[in-house]
Amino acid sequence: MATWLTETFGLSVPVVGAPMANVSGGRLTGAISAAGGLGMLGAGSAVSADWIRTEGAIAAATGKPYGVGLMAWSVESHPDHLDAVLELKPALASLSFGDYTPYVEPLRAAGIVVATQAGTVADAQEAIAAGVDAIVVRGAEAGGHGRNEVATLPLLQAILDLTDLPVLAGGGISGPRGLAAVLAAGAAGGWIGTAFLTCEEALTPDASRQRLLEATETDTVYGTVFDAASRAGWPDEYGGRALRNTFYDTWEGREDALKSDDEGHQQYVAATRGADPTSASLYAGQGVGALRKTTTAAEVLADLAAYKDLLRAALTD
Ligand SMILES: Cc1cc2nc3c(=O)[nH]c(=O)nc-3n(C[C@H](O)[C@H](O)[C@H](O)COP(=O)(O)O)c2cc1C
Repeated sequence: MATWLTETFGLSVPVVGAPMANVSGGRLTGAISAAGGLGMLGAGSAVSADWIRTEGAIAAATGKPYGVGLMAWSVESHPDHLDAVLELKPALASLSFGDYTPYVEPLRAAGIVVATQAGTVADAQEAIAAGVDAIVVRGAEAGGHGRNEVATLPLLQAILDLTDLPVLAGGGISGPRGLAAVLAAGAAGGWIGTAFLTCEEALTPDASRQRLLEATETDTVYGTVFDAASRAGWPDEYGGRALRNTFYDTWEGREDALKSDDEGHQQYVAATRGADPTSASLYAGQGVGALRKTTTAAEVLADLAAYKDLLRAALTD
């Protein structure tokens, strides 16, 4: 199936491996791109510009197009993240969560396709006004940060009706059925994160991988507890969807107190260092229930490519 996504980047599968901080480094990004999708580096607020350069070079070594995802709110205090992306010139850059407007034109002028994630129709309207090349619908069931306002399907339909810009669908696509559904609706591709979380090439630590494989679709929760503990600087407007754990349950409803609780902060930092799933954040979407085993990124993409058979079958009388 040819879509704006496959044509623009020469892909064989209409899938973007969504940027995931602490998960998608150069290895996963390159593996997704090498297997016919478009991999994206997840550059969180804690990485250095050199990390972006080094991991970008690893992804670029495949010779295939790849992308970089930046946190818009963090670029303000880390303008060197933007500089690193402008130097690398990946095929695609995404700027999400915060005011990304000033960065759209410099990226586009460097020949980089620019996308942003929208969690509401108002977000999509702002993206259109900001001059992005593509809009990513990020539904509430998605893993990681974003909004919790609208689920993927109603948001996708509303944004497809709103604009002629290419629209990618993110949130809850855990296999070929979900991909077939969004493509049939008119999306140019899937923007998929959770399905790649336990890939061999991901940065996911082993203990986290095990917990993710055991999780069911009802094990995730959306909130700001982990951001309050991490002190990374996330704006309150954006919570995150992660696996519920003991630390979350202890602090839910007391996020403001947690922001200034040194013990809670230290406990979280230690748990993150030790990849302790009872207290560290493990960001994942509702599609986590579909993760069964550790596979390669190429295997995930081969599985997703079965969307074609599903679409064909749907049209057969
Ligand atoms: C572990 C994890 C980390 C994420 N980190 C980022 C990030 O650094 N930048 C970003 O723009 N989105 C990030 N996201 C959101 C993804 O880009 C995407 O919206 C989401 O994974 C799509 O939904 P799905 O997880 O249901 O496939 C992250 C998601 C996860 C699961």
